[in-house]
Amino acid sequence: METVALQCVAYVVLFHGVLGGVITGDDALYTSDDKVTILNVTNFKPTVSISSNAWVVEFYSSWCGFCKRFSPTWKDFAADINAWEGVISVGVVDCADDNNNPLCREYEIMRYPTLRMFSAFHSGKLGIELQKDSIDEMRHGVLGFLEKEQMEGRGSPWPNLNPYRSSDLKNLWKDASPEVVYVIIIFEEPESYIGREIILDLHKIKGIQVRRATTHNEALSRLLGVAFYPCLSVVKRDLNSFNLKLVDNTRKSFREQIVSFLESVGIADVNVVKSVSHTGVLIEKVEISSDRMADSAVAGTNLQQPKVYYQDLLGAFAYSLQHEIPLHHHITGQALGALQNYVKVLRKYFPLDHAGNIFAEKLQDWVIVKNDNIQGKTFEDQVKILLVESKFKLPVLQNWKGCRGSKPHFRGYPCSLWQMFHTLTVNSVLINSHNLHELKPLEVLEAMLGYVTHFFGCEDCAAHFKQMAADTLHLDVHTPDDSILWLWRTHNKANKRLKGDITEDPKHPKTQFPSRNACPACSDSKGVWNEEEVLRYLKRFYARNNINYSETTKEDSKEITEFVSDDVERRKLGWDFSIADISLCVVLYISSAAILILVYIKFVLSNRYKKKSYVFDLLGKV
Ligand SMILES: Cc1cc2nc3c(=O)[nH]c(=O)nc-3n(C[C@H](O)[C@H](O)[C@H](O)COP(=O)(O)OP(=O)(O)OC[C@H]3O[C@@H](n4cnc5c(N)ncnc54)[C@H](O)[C@@H]3O)c2cc1C
Ligand SMILES: *[C@@H]1O[C@H](CO)[C@@H](O)[C@H](O)[C@H]1NC(C)=O
Repeated sequence: METVALQCVAYVVLFHGVLGGVITGDDALYTSDDKVTILNVTNFKPTVSISSNAWVVEFYSSWCGFCKRFSPTWKDFAADINAWEGVISVGVVDCADDNNNPLCREYEIMRYPTLRMFSAFHSGKLGIELQKDSIDEMRHGVLGFLEKEQMEGRGSPWPNLNPYRSSDLKNLWKDASPEVVYVIIIFEEPESYIGREIILDLHKIKGIQVRRATTHNEALSRLLGVAFYPCLSVVKRDLNSFNLKLVDNTRKSFREQIVSFLESVGIADVNVVKSVSHTGVLIEKVEISSDRMADSAVAGTNLQQPKVYYQDLLGAFAYSLQHEIPLHHHITGQALGALQNYVKVLRKYFPLDHAGNIFAEKLQDWVIVKNDNIQGKTFEDQVKILLVESKFKLPVLQNWKGCRGSKPHFRGYPCSLWQMFHTLTVNSVLINSHNLHELKPLEVLEAMLGYVTHFFGCEDCAAHFKQMAADTLHLDVHTPDDSILWLWRTHNKANKRLKGDITEDPKHPKTQFPSRNACPACSDSKGVWNEEEVLRYLKRFYARNNINYSETTKEDSKEITEFVSDDVERRKLGWDFSIADISLCVVLYISSAAILILVYIKFVLSNRYKKKSYVFDLLGKV
């Protein structure tokens, strides 16, 4: 009975996952319309590892807020260096896709987004980190990388990025292919990037070759009559030369100047360059924001009461154990300690059913004795083994219920992670309500901090959370109740900071929690909190008996809630009944109620007959 019911739940979860959890088409952060190559576990090696190109790849996660904010920049960056194709290509990998787990683990991606530059034929190497920055800074970072590659003997078929050091014009033509009609030399300061940018921007035009020379090459400057920098000189095969006039000293202006010259002399390949434009980007941004405003207006009039769903809590539990933790190659030192604390806290306070408790206990026993290191892959395998051993099922695909966003890249995992940690702080207090003095006030929060620091893939989330903990955790938390309130306050600070951000789901605007609607006593009309009431509200909201079991109907979950709500009863039963146990009880409860009603009806009806005859009898007697 129990396993059948659990299997049903698992199938429904899987089915929903297929329908609702996979990001495709318009909802994905990147689509085939962008100038990025969408890479995954199957095409990464054949495309990137054995490529004669260099690559720069963004490893991201579709749920990570920073990644969403960063994706327009990355698209613009890809469009900006699209003409460099053949030398360097731009790609993306979604590490939130479970299929890509082995790939993201192999490349040791622990934070999102991570940008890596790969040499041509890099196979096996982890690549070099590119700093996330403005488009210009990232382009300069890539240029520095390419130049170094070339200096170290890789990328010899690429256009020469090194400055021309000779003063003999004949050498210029030595390695020029027969199609080249003009060599264009850009004279500039040694630290200027424009020369290298133009070399790559125009490298596909067959009739020309672009080189750069620096102010150090005075002899060449004199030879070509260069009086000031920067300057563009054009050298023909017969070594005659002339200089082009520049309007201003930008990459764009250099490019335009060269292109209009080439047009004037009839070099047909110029169209290759002219096709490189990325004007669509701004328009797209404007459209998104007006769309969002309309949506927010609708959402504002349609406030729903928040709920906690078991499906979401279990989703966070599953994703952390099956995805985030296994992504790490080696887990050692502080990360290992953080993992052990996290598993301990889950075992103690996560509302699991009987099989779940067995699983959590086995996992804790396994993790706790490791004192050196655990391989991410070993952890992943061990979780699988223990799930089978304990007959516990975790959803494989993500399927959010309360945390489901209006688009797949909204809400989801981070939403469920917050809720899980609120549930853990609240339940640590409720479970220990009779021996609170034995409960360490920071037990759950320190486990959370450890998890977020070492395993939560969202880089800026971890940074913000660590900062907030460093600022206030030890000042504010002295009792177990303080830990509940601290997490509430911290979460509200995040809500405030992220209000109006592009990661905000327009259908679920960020508000201070709980709303006055949900808890009128928690705050006054000016928004001043009554923390005592907030605490009471949180203890009710995140208590185990308030959790909605996902696939049950409203009526069922109400009955479950009522059934479990008796505190004494709950303590006596422990935390050990499963969904199946509960539904069994509900069935028994309903059927015994039905039997009682039937008996009652029968009794009343037969009584009425008796009464009637009795009355007649009496009358007869009177
Ligand atoms: C530790 C952590 C740090 C994060 N830091 C960042 C960051 O720096 N930058 C960033 O872009 N994103 C960050 N995120 C993600 C971000 O906070 C949201 O989780 C994400 O934007 C999804 O938002 P949401 O609308 O689903 O609601 P969430 O904010 O995720 O909230 C989930 C649910 O929790 C309940 N809730 C809301 N507020 C409270 C509260 N104060 N107390 C108790 N319950 C509450 C509500 O029912 C709500 O629906 C972080 C997430 C976590 C877990
Ligand atoms: C990887 O991407 C290619 C090309 O888009 C696709 O055909 C393939 O099915 C993808 N593989 C996986 C495992 O998603």
